[in-house]
Amino acid sequence: MAPSYNWPPASLAKAINRHPVLRPLQKRRGILALVVLVLVMVALALGLGLGLGLKHHPGRYASAHCSDESGKYQLESIAAPVVGYGNPGPAANTWNLTVDDTISGYKQIIRGFGATVTDATVESFNNQTDSSLENLLNFLLTDTGANFSLMRHTIGASDLSPVTYTYDDNDGKPDEDLSAFSLGEYGTAMAKLLAQMKQIKPDMQIVGSSWSAPGWMKLNGDLADDSSHNYLNDGWFTSGGVGSTGYSSSFAQYFVKYIQAYQGLGAKIDAISIQNEPLNTQAGYPTMYVHANESAKLIGDHVGPALKSAGLNTTVWTFDDNTDNAYYPQTVLDYAEEFVSAVAWHCYASPADWTVLTDFHEQNPNTEQYMTECWTSASLNWTHAARFTMGPLQNWANGVTAWTLGADEGGGPHLGSGGCDSCDGLVTINKSSQYDFNIAYYMMAQFSKYIPPGARILQGNGSYTASNGNGIQSVASLNPDGSRTVVIENTFGHDVFVTVDFISGDTWSGDVPSSSVTTWVLPGQGLFPYSTEN
Ligand SMILES: *[C@@H]1O[C@H](CO)[C@@H](O)[C@H](O)[C@H]1NC(C)=O
Ligand SMILES: *[C@@H]1O[C@H](CO)[C@@H](O)[C@H](O)[C@H]1NC(C)=O
Ligand SMILES: *[C@@H]1O[C@H](CO)[C@@H](O)[C@H](O)[C@H]1NC(C)=O
Ligand SMILES: *[C@@H]1O[C@H](CO)[C@@H](O)[C@H](O)[C@H]1NC(C)=O
Ligand SMILES: *[C@@H]1O[C@H](CO)[C@@H](O)[C@H](O)[C@H]1NC(C)=O
Ligand SMILES: *[C@@H]1O[C@H](CO)[C@@H](O)[C@H](O)[C@H]1NC(C)=O
Ligand SMILES: *[C@@H]1O[C@H](CO)[C@@H](O)[C@H](O)[C@H]1NC(C)=O
Ligand SMILES: *[C@@H]1O[C@H](CO)[C@@H](O)[C@H](O)[C@H]1NC(C)=O
Repeated sequence: MAPSYNWPPASLAKAINRHPVLRPLQKRRGILALVVLVLVMVALALGLGLGLGLKHHPGRYASAHCSDESGKYQLESIAAPVVGYGNPGPAANTWNLTVDDTISGYKQIIRGFGATVTDATVESFNNQTDSSLENLLNFLLTDTGANFSLMRHTIGASDLSPVTYTYDDNDGKPDEDLSAFSLGEYGTAMAKLLAQMKQIKPDMQIVGSSWSAPGWMKLNGDLADDSSHNYLNDGWFTSGGVGSTGYSSSFAQYFVKYIQAYQGLGAKIDAISIQNEPLNTQAGYPTMYVHANESAKLIGDHVGPALKSAGLNTTVWTFDDNTDNAYYPQTVLDYAEEFVSAVAWHCYASPADWTVLTDFHEQNPNTEQYMTECWTSASLNWTHAARFTMGPLQNWANGVTAWTLGADEGGGPHLGSGGCDSCDGLVTINKSSQYDFNIAYYMMAQFSKYIPPGARILQGNGSYTASNGNGIQSVASLNPDGSRTVVIENTFGHDVFVTVDFISGDTWSGDVPSSSVTTWVLPGQGLFPYSTEN
């Protein structure tokens, strides 16, 4: 049957006939149709515009993103939490968290997350095609992926280098005025990779960390093979103190020259650590023992003033070692506070006790703190990277960097003689020169992707881990756009229905999958109308 195009239908025609305004118009149906058409178009345009506008405003929507142990979820969007206590269902396991998002709960400001760029990273990354490398860097540095914004890098060789070297080896002969200084093949490649990263992300911060002074600056004259007298020849161990004899000025100028050379290639250095793990001396890879008071004088009397008089804005992060020796950074700060902006901590004390950072903060409220090194490996529990990120964040850390950003399938290139031979890093470049993200990447991205620089970490409670490792740990932030982030680690082998009570007044609840880190991004209380759409 042919459809009828009679319009308006009889009932509507009747109504129009009785209507004082429409009655005269209906004589000219064309005009009526036009008016209706215009009204429909305006409504559509408004609806579409509003819809798109809202969708582009992250502050208005709740969302949830998950990475889990099995790899079923990798930064996957899952069901968003709902406003209020929700309905966990009769059989659900529940857990309650409290977050103080009012001024009394404001803690540290986030500067960034990332990893250490080692020679292993540079070599393996550069083994890819240009387009593969560009893709990888985009995942690492933009919100396509982890959105990392803080990178540490090695000044000279570390254990994750193909050979041992510094930027002024000079065949082991003294070079007091550093006339043989040169970044060399490895340093140049590293500076160029960092510069390429800064082109993608201009506000990425870089901190350089030295594994050892050149061999000729040391009492044993040796870069990496001899752990005895493995000290800087600066006068500290031999005579009247730092600067009384030896190479403390050369050591300071070494950093100035390195920073200038990197900046010349487009990699501005925001901070340096003068010695990675100053309490660790061993043969096989570059290390150097630096006493706490020796470090204080080196920074306060030599390195700090040298950076300043060279007109560099680079600050010093001190310590770069484990949480079981907090006396060390305190000793350095007490003497050289003018030049030291932060304390860098590693995770290798057993157990790594992140509450040390809270104690340190109470003594030194104006000093930033970072977790600058913890290794990652396929051999470690999936919780490892979440723990070394969550723990420091709960204890006043301003940022976290993993060890290492990337490496080849053998966790290298690395030295054959010492250090780490199974540090996979966050990314593995495999034999076909393609990259794969490791679980540590996803676990760190659960924080870095949703807690941007400038975010304020909030006081929270309710996190608890039992001695068998099971529990819920969380950390929350108030972000620069007013939204709030809650990162929740669930180490139970079952889902948990989590409720978060905010002190400002609202409550959110939702499912957190088993063995996962799940991140909720929530609208700001009172700032935006709530919606639970994804
Ligand atoms: C969480 O809070 C709700 C509401 O106050 C309460 O009913 C529930 O028992 C609490 N759950 C736990 C595990 O404490
Ligand atoms: C570089 O890629 C080649 C194959 O293209 C591979 O044989 C080599 O092991 C890779 N080297 C590194 C450092 O990844
Ligand atoms: C550093 O030197 C000061 C002053 O001489 C001294 O009191 C302190 O014990 C020394 N610290 C260490 C860790 O040796
Ligand atoms: C150091 O910082 C000051 C103030 O922010 C700026 O004017 C100056 O250009 C910076 N110098 C360098 C070398 O970056
Ligand atoms: C290398 O990575 C690519 C891309 O992820 C993958 O398809 C390939 O199977 C991997 N090759 C090896 C040898 O692991
Ligand atoms: C990604 O990082 C930049 C800072 O480098 C930040 O401005 C931006 O907000 C971040 N993106 C998201 C979605 O958080
Ligand atoms: C958690 O924090 C809230 C608000 O600050 C407080 O009322 C509550 O007593 C705290 N609970 C615990 C167990 O500390
Ligand atoms: C990983 O850690 C979780 C939480 O502590 C624990 O339940 C689990 O048994 C660990 N898995 C392995 C393979 O060790």
